[in-house]
Amino acid sequence: MKLLPLLPVDTVQFSQSVRGLHFFGAMDMVLLERVLEGLELRQYAGGDRICVQGEEGDFFFVVRTGKLTVTTRRGGLSLARRVATLGPGDCFGEMALLHRAPRNATVSCATSSTVFVLPAAHFQGVLQRNPEFAKEIRDLAAARQAELDRRDG
Ligand code: CMP
Repeated sequence: MKLLPLLPVDTVQFSQSVRGLHFFGAMDMVLLERVLEGLELRQYAGGDRICVQGEEGDFFFVVRTGKLTVTTRRGGLSLARRVATLGPGDCFGEMALLHRAPRNATVSCATSSTVFVLPAAHFQGVLQRNPEFAKEIRDLAAARQAELDRRDG
C-alpha cells in the first residue's frame, strides 16, 4: 500500500464521489475542514486486502478508482463466497463503524485501486453532524446486511 499526496482536486472529487450519499450535506465549515484533515488517499495493488472479515474496523473507505470484491466465509474452514463487486464512488467499511462490531466481510482489490480513507472518529463526527448522511449510510448498511442474511439463509 502506498500513500498518495492528497491534492485539493482530490478532496473535491471525494466530496462529489460518494455515490448517492450527501456526505457533506448540511455540514459546517469547521467539520468539513476537520474531515478533510483526516482524509488519506491510498493506492493498493491488485490482490491486496483492505478489510479482513473478523478484524476490528478503524476506517471508512470510498473507492476512487479500481475494482474491489467483497467476500465472506461462514466458518473458519469454508470457502470464501463473493457477495459484491465495488467500483468508483462506492463506499465500504461502514458496517463495523456503525455497529461497533468486527468487519463482516473481506474487501480485496481485484485490480490496482486508489481509495479514500477516513478514520473512524472522523466518520462518527460526520454521522453526528449530518443526519441526512447518517440515515443514508444506515439504510445502505441495512440493505447490505439483508443481502448477507439472504445468502446465509
Ligand atoms: P464492514 O463490515 O465494516 O467491512 C466489510 C465491508 O464489506 C462492510 O463493512 C461493507 O461495507 C461491505 N459489504 C458487506 N456486505 C456487502 C454487500 N452485500 N454488498 C456490498 N458491500 C458489502
